[in-house]
Amino acid sequence: MQKLEVLGANKLKGQIKISGSKNASLPILAATLLSSKKIYLNNLPKVKDIETMINLIQSLGSKVKFDNEKLIIDNSKQQKKIASYNLMKTMRAGILVLGPLLAKFGSAKVSLPGGCAIGTRPVDIHLKALSKLGVKYKIIEGYVHATAPKGLKGSKIRFPKISVGATENLIIAASLAKGTTILSNCAIEPEIKDLINFLNKAGCKIKWITKRSIKIQGVSKINETNYKIMFDRIEAGTYLVAAAVTEGNLTIKNVVPSIIQTEIDILKKIGAKISIKKGDIHIIGNKKINNINIKTAPYPGFPTDLQAQIMVLLCKANKKSLIKEDIFENRFMHVAELNRMGANISTNGNKAIVEGNINFAAAELMATDLRASVSLILAALTAKGKSVINRIYHLDRGYESLEKKLKKVGAKIRRVN
Ligand code: EPZ
Repeated sequence: MQKLEVLGANKLKGQIKISGSKNASLPILAATLLSSKKIYLNNLPKVKDIETMINLIQSLGSKVKFDNEKLIIDNSKQQKKIASYNLMKTMRAGILVLGPLLAKFGSAKVSLPGGCAIGTRPVDIHLKALSKLGVKYKIIEGYVHATAPKGLKGSKIRFPKISVGATENLIIAASLAKGTTILSNCAIEPEIKDLINFLNKAGCKIKWITKRSIKIQGVSKINETNYKIMFDRIEAGTYLVAAAVTEGNLTIKNVVPSIIQTEIDILKKIGAKISIKKGDIHIIGNKKINNINIKTAPYPGFPTDLQAQIMVLLCKANKKSLIKEDIFENRFMHVAELNRMGANISTNGNKAIVEGNINFAAAELMATDLRASVSLILAALTAKGKSVINRIYHLDRGYESLEKKLKKVGAKIRRVN
């Protein structure tokens, strides 16, 4: 099992290039199943979850090859409709192949994703919405057996709760349904807009009709398409927090700053100096860190995927802060590890009270989920001495070349077996 050693404390200085978005790449890779023409994708991040999704579509019969940085996907002979548990158990987003398989073949057998460290990850909203398009499904031995005997038929669907994955699954499925679908109470994360941009470029007819509703006119086929995936806004946010927490001075490159305006505004309130220049964000961390109360929310609210990271920063604030995790039911797994580094965080349900004025102490640590593991690294960067972070396979799921990018801006970090 690999681990990361971090020797703190030091200030990060320099430039970090942001990779393509994991959470835009996953639905777009699933959506390529709709097409029987070649699809060319650029700017996919080199992370484990993307590898897993590529393995999943290959297990369904996709022909996939990398030509330099470009991924070429040929689904012309893709025929299989069973997405197996062993590929889904490590990555919940595998459920996103259900919509395209039903749209293309009218039947699919997809493993239920199962739970993970941050929650049970149900897919009831996906399934109920798909049944509105004419899908019949049964759950048998942990698999969804779904069929659309008369093909998918457009319909009006209102999501009972905002769900990124369910919105994506339905957008993909409705793209090839007969007739028109109206989806309302949709998630509006930038990654969903990227998925829609990709599908429209491939010949689909999808448009936003209100802030949270979408009109999809079904088409009969998806054309050959060349598409560049958007930047990873959570990776960008993570490095912005890294600059703030180490009193560093970083330029974050290859981003669209307006997409992370909420995060930028909050970091400014906390005391970081931030300036924007075209596609770059320049941030200087401040010695004095102001406390602030944070509530995670669907976009454009504060992202749950940055909750662990901002918690580390607030441990160093001048007063206590309250963090409310309103998206997932168990996303405080990093708290116990941060407390072992000297933090003083108490949790009660989905609320965490974060005492300020903490100096983290180096320690041997255990990563539990993707974003929790990166929060341990942020804390270790500020702790005097050597910290060791175990189970870093969690990190490798979603951060491309993390230690290389951090080393380049002065972090003393290395991977050991
Ligand atoms: C996506 O997960 C992201 N993953 C998550 O990022 C992100 O944290 C989450 O959206 C929220 O923004 C990808 O895009 C691959 P949801 P998703 O459906 O789609 C409940 C990361 O670190 N729910 O918006 O699974 C669910 O349990 C990952 O990159 C149902 O109850 O999130 C959760 O409490 C972690 N029934 C809430 O809704 C359903 O059918 C929001 O989930 C679906 C979801």
